[in-house]
Amino acid sequence: MAREFTRVGVVGLGTMGAGIVEVFARNGLDVTAVEISEAALERGRVTLTGSTDRAVAKGKLAEAERDALLARVDFRVGLDALHDVDLVIEAVPEHLDLKQRIFAELDRVCKPEAILATNTSSLSVTEISVATSRPNQVIGIHFFNPAPVMKLVEVVRTVVTSADVVADVEALCERLGKVDVTISDRAGFIANALLFGYLNHAVGMFEARYATREDIDAAMKLGCGLPMGPLALMDLIGLDTAYEILDTMYRRGGRDRRHAPAPLLKQMVTAGLLGRKSGRGFYTYERPGSPKVVPDEYTPLAADAALADGARAIAKVGVVGSGTMATGIIEVFAKAGYEVISVTRGAEKSAKVCESVKTSLNKGVVRGKLSETDRDAALGRITWSATLDHLADVDLVVEAVIEELSVKKALFASLDEICKPGVVLATTTSSLPVIDVAMATQRPADVIGLHFFNPAPIMPLVEIVQTIRTSAETSATARAVCAKLGKTGVVCGDRSGFIVNALLFPYLNDAVRMLEASYSTADDIDYAMKLGCGYPMGPFELLDVVGLDVSLAIQRELYLELREPGFAPAPLLEHLVTAGYLGRKSGRGFRDHTRR
Ligand SMILES: NC(=O)c1ccc[n+]([C@@H]2O[C@H](COP(=O)([O-])OP(=O)(O)OC[C@H]3O[C@@H](n4cnc5c(N)ncnc54)[C@H](O)[C@@H]3O)[C@@H](O)[C@H]2O)c1
Repeated sequence: MAREFTRVGVVGLGTMGAGIVEVFARNGLDVTAVEISEAALERGRVTLTGSTDRAVAKGKLAEAERDALLARVDFRVGLDALHDVDLVIEAVPEHLDLKQRIFAELDRVCKPEAILATNTSSLSVTEISVATSRPNQVIGIHFFNPAPVMKLVEVVRTVVTSADVVADVEALCERLGKVDVTISDRAGFIANALLFGYLNHAVGMFEARYATREDIDAAMKLGCGLPMGPLALMDLIGLDTAYEILDTMYRRGGRDRRHAPAPLLKQMVTAGLLGRKSGRGFYTYERPGSPKVVPDEYTPLAADAALADGARAIAKVGVVGSGTMATGIIEVFAKAGYEVISVTRGAEKSAKVCESVKTSLNKGVVRGKLSETDRDAALGRITWSATLDHLADVDLVVEAVIEELSVKKALFASLDEICKPGVVLATTTSSLPVIDVAMATQRPADVIGLHFFNPAPIMPLVEIVQTIRTSAETSATARAVCAKLGKTGVVCGDRSGFIVNALLFPYLNDAVRMLEASYSTADDIDYAMKLGCGYPMGPFELLDVVGLDVSLAIQRELYLELREPGFAPAPLLEHLVTAGYLGRKSGRGFRDHTRR
């Protein structure tokens, strides 16, 4: 017969524990909430009341419900208070010896039939379980941060966890309104195994001054639709916790260098910069525990200040190319008030691009996003040409031709001959080194990457790629142009994948490896990332949309440039591409799209 859970215990009321108490109490369970000292108990109480008060203020919880919720929680110091609970979940810091000590103690204190659960993110549940005399009643219940908000729970069963314990915990998760995925005991489970390599890579980028914290975070939010950037997420998780998780994953997960914590993390933890909980991490917060970021010495100047910073005046813009990106970019510039000269390889192509721009602008009118007058004015600003010579007097050229280095280099050599001095020459390449293109001209200081995202009229992000020869003036001009286009321009160095692809594709590749290793299913991995981390799409959904061939090509580039063994394309990805399973565009990728 299934167990009845009436009273549960939570040990440790930090970032996770306080949220877990809230989840239980909100769903009608009585909770014994335990901390190590009166001071820590008080902190936990303050976190819980703060969170429930915010829920009331937002209209998500009635005052009476909040009062009932708080009345269900019994705050206590010391594990002895847990003698009558049906299940206890431990959420103390991520140290194996500490957790083992607590489990040995829980085994002594709790009823013989009680389930003992850990919220560990990376430690072995099996190793924790052997500290008790009832390893078959020990299980992982891994909540996500913030626990009251995130829908996912990873239920981790060890080789000795009883089937009835797993079933009862799954039923409990359902009662809590959570979606659970049940998996075996492996470092990082699903979500963290895919998340932490990415987070650590982002810290490495920041540490190497490849881009600013604001730009790294904006790139991932705006380029991938993630709810938070990686550095803001690190602050939310807690840098001490993140360090321990990475360190354990490195040691337990085959010593993948990508999980070796970035040196900066250790320094920050040592210096007491733990993230939101200490009031300062990658960002500075109003006070410890507050989610509100306040300006500090690293906060960049407002965009207006950057404009004054040596940017050249741009009025006339040439766009070279006739594909999807060129078409979108022409529209973006024309709508923002620039005079645009579109150059294609023939009148027929120009007519096609013109038609596409008109169709897109008309859609804007139908959707009420653009007036007819503005549409006509935007169209009136575009000149159609099939001759590069017409770019002699433009102020900026944006190249968006085929992704082949020889073609781009030849084009830039021609632009160098045709364009007047002082023109900014930009390439939209997503994978080629911008410096190669720049060196095809006699003016590499004026060359920069402007990496727009598809569809350009909609996606708010542009990566501004500076080579080691790009001048400050060129960079300032690019930033000013992006601001005028209404886009967020993030500045980064000239490395394979820039910010977004360099952080995104290895994660997708890791998901393929996880599937290949049969650790979980494509559906559960997609759920884990969507419901555990708030991603708009799971990795397999995204791979099928992007195209497996495109993803493989990007991953190969990253691997070739950075020589990071962990970036080697997953064999399964290569096999699917060889088999012609390219994703939605071919009807089949990780999923069959012909039957949907
Ligand atoms: N932070 C996250 O985003 C996150 C997400 C999922 C899981 N986890 C996991 O949850 C666990 C807790 O992490 P956290 O981020 O909440 O840590 P935290 O440092 O914010 O909180 C830990 C709490 O445990 C208390 N504690 C320490 N020793 C204790 C003891 N002997 N008895 C009772 N309480 C004790 C501390 O006083 C502190 O309040 C870790 O295993 C972590 O890996 C964390």
